[in-house]
Amino acid sequence: MAAAGSAVGLGNIWGFPTQTASNGGAAFLIAYLVLAFCLAYPALMAELTIGRHGQANAVSSLRKISNTPLQKRFAFVVGFGGIICAGLILSFYAIVAGWMISATVEPIATLAGSDTASTWLSEQSLSRNMIFTAGFIILTVAIISRGVEHGIEKWSKRLMPALLSILFALIVYVMMQEGAMTGLKAYLVPDFKSILDPELLVSALGQAFFSLSLGTSVMIIYGSYISKKENLVSLGAYVTLIDVFIAFVAGLLIIPAMYVAQAQGVEIFSATGELLSEDTLVFQVLPALFDGMGTIGLFVGFAFFALMSIAALTSSISMLEAPVSYAVERFTMSRVAATWLIGVVIALVSFTILLNFGSLFGLVIALTTKFGQPILGLMCCLFVGWIWYRNSLLNEIKQGCPEVATSLFWKIWPWYIKFICPIAIGLVFVSSIVG
Ligand code: PFF
Repeated sequence: MAAAGSAVGLGNIWGFPTQTASNGGAAFLIAYLVLAFCLAYPALMAELTIGRHGQANAVSSLRKISNTPLQKRFAFVVGFGGIICAGLILSFYAIVAGWMISATVEPIATLAGSDTASTWLSEQSLSRNMIFTAGFIILTVAIISRGVEHGIEKWSKRLMPALLSILFALIVYVMMQEGAMTGLKAYLVPDFKSILDPELLVSALGQAFFSLSLGTSVMIIYGSYISKKENLVSLGAYVTLIDVFIAFVAGLLIIPAMYVAQAQGVEIFSATGELLSEDTLVFQVLPALFDGMGTIGLFVGFAFFALMSIAALTSSISMLEAPVSYAVERFTMSRVAATWLIGVVIALVSFTILLNFGSLFGLVIALTTKFGQPILGLMCCLFVGWIWYRNSLLNEIKQGCPEVATSLFWKIWPWYIKFICPIAIGLVFVSSIVG
């Protein structure tokens, strides 16, 4: 549940619908589904298995399966690269999560009758963004400094059903509004010509890796917390299914809601048909929807954004755990000191992004999610496929799943991550460069 909590977050409800809307709707959905199951799931299995075998932070776990000094150096590059990637992701993630928290507080201000506060909370401003980003990072630090084990699982278990129920209720509401059917068509009826567009494929691959928290060493660390009694193969499959399902359902809400908002006069697309404001799309479309519900919309808006903020928190704690577990084990620092120190560094990076929003926000997202995550994820596949001895790998997966040696999974997965995943991920990049 904690791994699912890491996977389900802003990537599902903010990232996926935004990417889908700006990359041609249904064509992006199909590419995303194929890449999530065919490339991201096998890579997730690689990371979880490395972690459970290593029983330590990402660098040490990767080193444990390395045999030569060169491989050990490669292990450091991949493990440490993932930790930096996780930290950078957290620095922009905290900004978006800050928007979620301010959207949660806004209905309270409106109910209390404070127009000034509610306007400040709903409009973009440096002061609002700085305060809520810092608040979110402090919350993440407070949880991580106490250790991950207890809180996360409890929260994730309650969160997932609550999030799904509210999503479904909102979908029913949206479908009854004018404009929804045009949105549904855009989401579900693909234009097959654009599916192989290299730009679309790179974005869909990045989104799939982002959504499953891959290439950041997070799933290696969470793997190290999984008991040897657990069946890794089905556990990885559950995490992937829950994650992809929630993203799909979020798309069913947000894409039609965009067209509903447009029918109500909210400007969503430019004259040339491009999205006007990708990053803040969700924050325009959903409040417009909640406004249309009258007073009850205030409660629905509060519940929705509160759930989203918690979902963001169960993901952000996994990101912070990546550098913290490394610092604690490598430099024998106290957990509390390491967490606060790294939290301050990440907050400084977030503030730098906020102060140079136009040039840095999109750049950090693209560097980490489109390139960093798939490339580091690919390297984890190379580790498992080419460096880890096959018998030792089998013995690891057998724990908790004794029948695996004769299963279809074991017949396909080892050669799949050895050849298919690296070649396919490589091809996506080559085609995007050539294209
Ligand atoms: N998977 C998270 C989401 O979809 O919101 C984001 C994420 C978490 C990315 C942890 C990377 C990471 F290490």
